[in-house]
Amino acid sequence: MATTLDNGLLDDILHQVRPLIGRGKVADYIPALAEVSSNKLGIAICTVEGDCFSAGDAAERFSVQSVSKVLSLVVAMGLYDDDEIWQRVGKDPSGQPFNSLLQLELEQGKPRNPFINAGALVVCDMLQSRLSAPKQRMLEVVRRLAGVDDLVYDTRVARSEFEHAARNAAIAWLMKSFGNFNNDVMTVLQSYFHYCALKMSCEEMAKTFLFLACQGRAPHLDTPVITPLQTRQINALMATSGMYENSGEFAWRVGMPGKSGVGGGIVAIVPHEMSIAVWSPELDHAGNSLAGIAALEILAGRIGRSIF
Ligand code: DON
Repeated sequence: MATTLDNGLLDDILHQVRPLIGRGKVADYIPALAEVSSNKLGIAICTVEGDCFSAGDAAERFSVQSVSKVLSLVVAMGLYDDDEIWQRVGKDPSGQPFNSLLQLELEQGKPRNPFINAGALVVCDMLQSRLSAPKQRMLEVVRRLAGVDDLVYDTRVARSEFEHAARNAAIAWLMKSFGNFNNDVMTVLQSYFHYCALKMSCEEMAKTFLFLACQGRAPHLDTPVITPLQTRQINALMATSGMYENSGEFAWRVGMPGKSGVGGGIVAIVPHEMSIAVWSPELDHAGNSLAGIAALEILAGRIGRSIF
């Protein structure tokens, strides 16, 4: 029988997954991220009825990293027609690590989906073409969605990423060689690294992404963020490509559209019901939060939810 959602349930889930801490590895290819304590563990849920539940370090901010790839796609969907986006980036799972170059070369510079680094870089290139201040616009969007005025980029993390930009720069230059990148590579990388370096807590993240559970409407905002169709499309992409080469495994274990970041955060959606954010910095081999996935798996079982 499904359990009722409350703070006690979330406490209990964190208690169950805490022993997993020590089995993963904090991302260290971005040196500033390696400084985060591996003991952090938090979870927050916002329901479409307006209830919020949380446990552990749910109020502490962390680097959202690739979770921001969903937000850049949302902004691009507001600026471009469908065809303009999807002729430059695909909609299929890559089955490859998030920062791989192999497939990109074989497929003439068209990334498989917007949630691997190559795809997100194309999306950022598109934002750069249509926005005079893309970094500022992203902050405005995310502050509005979270209902919090003081969300900021962690400039130390952004700088650290820029100092270790070789692989992302190679991806962008490869796409440029195929004619799928229009702006200055370094300028776009700066925006991309800032989006990744956005800091948010689980509570803020769950609220920010609630519109994906509400057919594109954030309950606290008057105007829709995206259309119901776009919402379905983003949830479909998250379900098939949100966890990189482990997207199938995540669908199997958790059964919800999800998006992870190497900061250890994951956002997951139960359409028409709730948004969930978890944070535990230690990652598995695919770069997804190890204890975070376990927490979502237990939660899905306890409340009896799956989109499948
Ligand atoms: O570009 C990078 O490699 C990082 N800023 C983001 C990667 C990431 O979060 C992948 N996630 N699991």
